[in-house]
Amino acid sequence: MDIFQSIKERRSYRSYLGKPVEEEKLHTILEAGQWAPSVMNLQPWKFFVIKSQDVKSQLKAACYETLQKIYQASGWKWVNKFSLEFLTEAPIIIVVAGDPKKTGADQFLPGRGMGYAFSCCAAVQNMHLAAYALGLGTLWFTLYETDRVKELLNIPAELDVVSMIVLGYPTEPAALIKRKPLEEMVTVIG
Ligand SMILES: Cc1cc2nc3c(=O)[nH]c(=O)nc-3n(C[C@H](O)[C@H](O)[C@H](O)COP(=O)(O)O)c2cc1C
Repeated sequence: MDIFQSIKERRSYRSYLGKPVEEEKLHTILEAGQWAPSVMNLQPWKFFVIKSQDVKSQLKAACYETLQKIYQASGWKWVNKFSLEFLTEAPIIIVVAGDPKKTGADQFLPGRGMGYAFSCCAAVQNMHLAAYALGLGTLWFTLYETDRVKELLNIPAELDVVSMIVLGYPTEPAALIKRKPLEEMVTVIG
């Protein structure tokens, strides 16, 4: 698939079939993450591939508790109704964790030091696009508490959980979603 088609057509999926993801496809997706740019080429990421149904169930239970905390803090009604069933429906969840020490020269600038997280997000987006190009669906998921995820998955204390990628074959086409006009986003200087 053409890269521009993947960029424009990729959508977020929140409902998945039980159908397994082929190992070759998973490998290609992880390689797409591997080849992302990173600050000083430090490659600050680790990819934890969750396949165990039991671990996904525990993760889902923890995230439902997190949702309640968000609901209590925000009062947002949609949060209370938000279904997390995709966390056990999808055959794979890739947890991307980054090392805040591997953040490059921006750590010496005030208010910066996020290079490791930006690098991880580059890897995450590469994996989303690769998955779509391979006929799979994904969701960029962040409604979790870092410490609980780390405890559940035995992720080393020094790492920060930057994102989860829910991965699988979606049940239905994604919802139609729009973007703001380009003119609202672009300022040409000069
Ligand atoms: C940093 C980031 C965090 C996100 N976290 C969540 C999330 O926790 N749950 C969710 O359902 N979608 C999450 N999304 C997906 C967005 O809701 C989605 O990308 C956006 O609505 C645009 O839709 P599209 O991906 O289908 O184009 C996240 C996206 C990004 C970039």
